[in-house]
Amino acid sequence: MLIQIPKVLTAEQVAQIRTELDKAEWVDGRNTAGYISQRVKDNQQVPDTHPIARELGQKILTLLEKHPMFTSAALPLKVVPPLFNRYSGQQNYGRHVDGAIRPVAGTPFRVRTDLSATLFLAAPEDYDGGELVIEDTFGQRRVKLPAGDLVLYPSTSVHKVEPVTRGTRYASFFWIQSMVREDSHRTMLFELDNSIQQLGRDMPQHPAVVQLAGLYHNLLRLWADA
Ligand code: NI
Repeated sequence: MLIQIPKVLTAEQVAQIRTELDKAEWVDGRNTAGYISQRVKDNQQVPDTHPIARELGQKILTLLEKHPMFTSAALPLKVVPPLFNRYSGQQNYGRHVDGAIRPVAGTPFRVRTDLSATLFLAAPEDYDGGELVIEDTFGQRRVKLPAGDLVLYPSTSVHKVEPVTRGTRYASFFWIQSMVREDSHRTMLFELDNSIQQLGRDMPQHPAVVQLAGLYHNLLRLWADA
């Protein structure tokens, strides 16, 4: 399931983050790529141990914890602290897959990457190119979202970032280990949750609302690690 989560950040929050990022140190993004990805990766990143990256990453995680659509779609168990990248002057990231396991910098912990997330931090009209292209069973999906919106997609997908031919593309990116490992199970739970929410709004007194909520939790109990 590929899902767009709108308005994770307000315009003011995007502007604040961008101001902070301008003060950060930027280094070659190849530093954090595996040996296969290194050959196709060309961007800049704020080092994962940089205080600004940690502070802004924590701010994003705090907002996401309160975001009902993110929680429902990702069912997060562990999240790699968000990192920050930028592309300009034809920089791009060729076809690659994200590693299955990510260490969490400065800790002995690791996260299994079930879901990849990109949070767009530049307005689409401020740069040309830079689409995130995700290959799935339906073919290629080209993603370029308003600043403050997030795309969530299975980390199993091959993907790339197209060359940025004008302006600068800023984004935050991170990975999520979901309580529910299997993408098809997560998708069914997300659809069921949405249906229950809709029924609960339209017919709150209907006894089926409680039965369906019970079914949701029983499936979650069956599939989830917590
Ligand atoms: Ni990637």
